[in-house]
Amino acid sequence: MRKNIVAGNWKMNKTLQEGVALATDLKNILNGTKPNCEVIIGTPFIHLATVAELVKGSVIKVSAENCADKASGAYTGEVSAAMVKSTGAEFCIIGHSERRAYYHETYDILKDKVQLALENGLQPIFCIGEVKEEREANKQNAVVKAQLEGSVFNLNAEDFGKIVLAYEPVWAIGTGLTATPEQAQEIHAYIRSLVTEKYGKEVADNCSILYGGSCKGSNAKGLFSNPDIDGGLIGGASLKAEDFKAIIDAF
Ligand code: 13P
Repeated sequence: MRKNIVAGNWKMNKTLQEGVALATDLKNILNGTKPNCEVIIGTPFIHLATVAELVKGSVIKVSAENCADKASGAYTGEVSAAMVKSTGAEFCIIGHSERRAYYHETYDILKDKVQLALENGLQPIFCIGEVKEEREANKQNAVVKAQLEGSVFNLNAEDFGKIVLAYEPVWAIGTGLTATPEQAQEIHAYIRSLVTEKYGKEVADNCSILYGGSCKGSNAKGLFSNPDIDGGLIGGASLKAEDFKAIIDAF
C-alpha cells in the first residue's frame, strides 16, 4: 500500500548554519519516536550533503527542491540530478508552482527534469495545482490533468510508480488560506482517478498524493484523515522543528 509522507520544503530559507541547526533540532525531536509516516526534508542545494550526512541513521530523508533539465556540461549555475544524488539525497521536488511561475519551467522542461531524476535514482516529488483564477473558473481539474499529461504521463508504469505527487493549490501557498479537507479530498480523488485511467488500479493505489498549501499542525489531521490525502508538502511550517513535528504527529 502507499506510504504516508510528510515532506518539508524549506524553499530559499536558512543559511547553511541555520539549516544544520534546524535539521539537528528535527533529528533530536524525532529521536526515539516512530513516526507513522515517512519524513522528508527538502533543502536548498548547498545544504544537501551536510544535512544528508547529519540525518543518516535517523528516520529523516533528504530531498532537493529542484534539479537541472540537462545531464551535465556548460550550464553555469545549474545543479544536475546526478550531483543531487551524490549528496545522499533520495528525493527531488520537481515542478513546484514557484519554479513554474518565476523561472518559466514548462511542461517539457519538467518532463526532462523528471526523466533525469529517475535515471539518477532520485524519487521525484512532482507538484501540480491551479492558480486562484483557475479555481474561481472551476478549471482546477483540467489544470492538474494537463500538468500530469504534460510532464509525467509519458512514463512507463514502473517509473511512474517511483513518483510522489503533491497537489498544491497556488492560492493556498504561503497565504494562510488552506483548501478545505473536502476541496482537497475531491481533487486528490480526481487525480487518483486519472492515474487509475492511465496506469491501472494497482499503480494508483500505491501512489502517494500529498497536499501542500498552508498546512500546519492545526489543520493537518483534518486533511490527512481523508482517503486520498497521503500526507503533506510543507513550506512555512517546516522551518521550525516543533511546527513540523506537530504535522508529523497528525498521523
Ligand atoms: P506553505 O506551507 O508555506 O503554504 O508552502 C507550501 C508549499 O509550497 C510547499 O511546497
